[in-house]
Amino acid sequence: MLQHADPKLEELVVKLSTDPSELDAYVKKYEKYKAGWLPKMLGGLLVFCGNTVYGKKPSYLKFRAVEIIARVPYHSWESAAFTLLTMFFMDEKKALALSNTAWFGRMASDNETMHVVVISQLAKKAEKGNWLVHTFIPMAFAFFYFWAAYWIYLFSKKAAFELNYLFEQHAFDQYTIFIRENEEMLKSKKMDSDFLAWYGRKAETEYDFFVSVKNDEIVHRNSSIDHIHEHSKNHSKPASA
Ligand SMILES: [Fe+2]
Ligand SMILES: [Fe+2]
Repeated sequence: MLQHADPKLEELVVKLSTDPSELDAYVKKYEKYKAGWLPKMLGGLLVFCGNTVYGKKPSYLKFRAVEIIARVPYHSWESAAFTLLTMFFMDEKKALALSNTAWFGRMASDNETMHVVVISQLAKKAEKGNWLVHTFIPMAFAFFYFWAAYWIYLFSKKAAFELNYLFEQHAFDQYTIFIRENEEMLKSKKMDSDFLAWYGRKAETEYDFFVSVKNDEIVHRNSSIDHIHEHSKNHSKPASA
């Protein structure tokens, strides 16, 4: 079957999932990054709301709700970069930086879509959901969040990427706890997902799957900061350089 994921990103996730020293170095790379006050405030609010509605403890249904929302900023960035390219296509350096963001947005939103589709199938078998709390609230929030993320990106790319850095760090931490607390149960469940096969990822058990998802989140976290550096490089160099 055709692989729909980016092969290089898949290779990175496999490396992070199979080599603890690689993962350790990758986590450490931006572990001490200090986000600004606005992303910190918004990120804190998002986590607080998530914990209030879904509880602090990670679960299949909490992940399903989080993943509905997690795809949104990537789609917003891609749309915002598209808008900006309508105006700045004459500036090649800017066009490159914006196209890189649009590419990252596309890859990451496809990746998050895989998370939400596959996790919702697993959740169906594991937990009983409440339509209002687990479906309506995250969907309604996703509509609002699309425009919030779009305008934050237009107003300040740095703030947009830093907010995502905090969100993805939280997701990585939540998956880490979930895997640690449910290791045996996850290892006993075999994976059988058409969507995962379509995406081009292999996982024998739910344990393998959740480890790969956890590591997707740390790739999203680090890539967000890499994009801040890329945009600032573009601003600090004269156009002729
Ligand atoms: Fe995710
Ligand atoms: Fe993510």
